[in-house]
Amino acid sequence: MTPHNHAQAGDYAEAVLLPGDPLRAKWIAETFLADARCVNTVRNCLGFTGSWKGAPVSVQATGMGQPSLAIYVHELINVYDVQKLIRVGTCGGLNTKVKVRDLVIALGAATDSTIVRDAFGRYGFAPTADFDLLADAVARARERSLRHHAGNVVSSDEFYHADSLKAYAPLMQHGILGVEMEAAALYTLAARFGRKALAICTMSDCLITGEEMNADERQSSLRDMVELALDVATGA
Ligand code: HPA
Repeated sequence: MTPHNHAQAGDYAEAVLLPGDPLRAKWIAETFLADARCVNTVRNCLGFTGSWKGAPVSVQATGMGQPSLAIYVHELINVYDVQKLIRVGTCGGLNTKVKVRDLVIALGAATDSTIVRDAFGRYGFAPTADFDLLADAVARARERSLRHHAGNVVSSDEFYHADSLKAYAPLMQHGILGVEMEAAALYTLAARFGRKALAICTMSDCLITGEEMNADERQSSLRDMVELALDVATGA
């Protein structure tokens, strides 16, 4: 038990999916998992454990942004001994080759987050996905003919910029695919504690063209992403 999580030791499976939104965690548990039980309700940041194709798996909401994600991830690793952590989220598009609904499989994550940057002094740090999880996700996405891109994202602490495209321009010149708010802290914590992490995002809104997913597209593309993430998490 922690101040943020009332689950007991053993309540989480070895592999955990991490959506930001607590209601998405509930939807994933109810829609995809067999025998799902709720293991955490503190602050309504819901966590569930069940099984997928016979293998145990959990889903825990992280809230929005790196400070919030870092609390849940730190505790999942250090209190609940979770080994594999897979973020499932959305990202804003920063590259015209990424279309709305496409999956962005985050190879690496640049960030403005001080909780990541301050830990490394002049060398900085390149937060990267676990190679095996990434390779598995890419292979499965290819097999299923899901439109996908493996490359770098930026994990920003700011959703509302005065001028987003100006803020991200240098990153866009270096091929960044999209912006989200959690991957860099997830990858850094996984590296620090020797665990495996991956972030998969559906591109929900293109910052360049203004194109957005409609409600139907949102639901069906989330399904594809969650099924992919559950297969990668459990090796099913
Ligand atoms: N910024 C940050 N995170 C996001 C965005 C965005 O524009 N879209 C979806 N997640």
